[in-house]
Order: sequence, then C-alpha cells, then structure tokens
Amino acid sequence: TQFPGRRITTLITEARRNIPVMDKKAEAPGQAKRAAGYRAADMVEDGMVVGLGTGSTVYFTIERLSERVCDGLRITGIPTSFQTALRAREAHIPLATLDDCPEPDIAIDGADEVDPQLRLIKGRGAALLREKCVAAAAKHFVVVADEQKMVTKLGTAAVPVEVLPFAVMPVLADLRRLGCVPVIREAVRKDGPVITDNGNFIVDCTFPAISDPERLEEALAAIPGVLESGLFCGFVKKTTVIVGGQQKVKILPLTDIVA
Ligand code: A5P
Repeated sequence: TQFPGRRITTLITEARRNIPVMDKKAEAPGQAKRAAGYRAADMVEDGMVVGLGTGSTVYFTIERLSERVCDGLRITGIPTSFQTALRAREAHIPLATLDDCPEPDIAIDGADEVDPQLRLIKGRGAALLREKCVAAAAKHFVVVADEQKMVTKLGTAAVPVEVLPFAVMPVLADLRRLGCVPVIREAVRKDGPVITDNGNFIVDCTFPAISDPERLEEALAAIPGVLESGLFCGFVKKTTVIVGGQQKVKILPLTDIVA
C-alpha cells in the first residue's frame, strides 16, 4: 500500500487531529451523513479523478477515501475549497487542479436542499462557485445528503450568490428587483463580510417562493457582478443523489439499499 505499516485508524485519527480548520458540524455523530459520504466514496474506482466538494457530509467521503487510498486506491482529488484542500491533504489524498484535470470522472458534493427533480440549493459554506465549476466539468455528479435536505420545493433555504465586491451595490439593487431580500453574509470571528476563497462576497437571497428554479438561476447569472448562484439546476441528467438515513441509504433516481 501507499502507507506501509501504518494502521488506517491511526492515519484517520492523525488526519483529524492535524486539520487546522475543522468544521464543528463535521465532528457531530452525523450517522446519516456518514452513511451517504461513505457510500459515495465507495463508488470511486481506481485511477479516477474525483471532484471533492465542501462541507460536513463530504468530510465523511474524504475520510473514507483516505482509508481506501491507504489500502492502495490511486485517485487524484480536485478540491472545491481551501477547507477541502486542507482536509484532503491531511488525509493523504493526492490533489490537482482543473488545469491539470479539466474533466474529472466524478464530483462528490453536499447540498442544502434537494428537490424531487434533483435540483439543488448549495452554498451554506460559501464554496458554491468552485463547486459549480467542478460539478460542471465532471462526467458524473454525486450529491451526498441526509434526509433533512430532501424538500418538495426549493426555497426554504436562502439562495447564496457570489458577488464581485466592486459591483455589490448595483447587484443588491438587481437582486431586489428579482423579488428577494438580499443580505450580505457576515463573517464569524472576523468583522465584516464573509470573503470567499475567490476574494468575493456572498449575498444570501431569500425569495418568498421559487416557482421556476431554472429561470431564476439564469436570471441571477445574467446580473453583471454575479459570479454564480447556489442554484444547481443544470446537472440533473448526470446527477445521482445518495440520501443517508439511520438504517439505510437511498440512491436517487435508482433504488433503496441497506447501508
Ligand atoms: C458548501 O459551500 C456547500 O455548498 C455545502 O456543500 C453544502 O452546504 C452542504 O454542506 P453540509 O454537507 O455541511 O450540509
């Protein structure tokens, strides 16, 4: 194996201890997230280039991939955020960029809301821009989520939008004209706005209702100064959603299997 003589559990424990930026949510028991995250990691085959999403569910995917890499699996990860790059590096997953691997075999990522047509809202962790780039580039998009993320209609969660700071005031006006209440996301343990990994702001847009997610995604993307929104409607045909539960995982649009 790549790490002879080292027990996997030791490696994982070390990886956990050494990761400097740790999401508290990722440390919670999260059985359902673990089930979904692990199942997605087990879909990865030797030699694949794997887009690595961001968040507490993908954390478990990275954990399981780390075990498999330890057992000899050869993969290349494309991280979608600084957080994921740090975690993946600590987990001994070889990394590259979209420059090196412009067409990943698979991208695995979390979601904030998933509707019955497998359209998503993403971006709680402010990584939506790189996540969308990687999802768009990948041949298959695997979404890992717990049951609470499944909704009949998108829009309970605000739609995050990444905005160029230079244009934020006209963008806010345009967003209001689309019918939402836009709020610049404030940082925690830093005064002022969240600054994304790309140096931009996040504006969280609460809509009274989202009747046509595709149209809204297009309308948001058309605003000068908007880099991307957290609406992910364009990947449905290549999307598989793994929904983690306590007893079993459900794979959409396919079938139920025992975890
Ligand atoms: C990161 O910006 C987000 O898109 C996450 O992928 C999404 O919020 C899901 O995160 P959790 O798996 O932590 O719920």
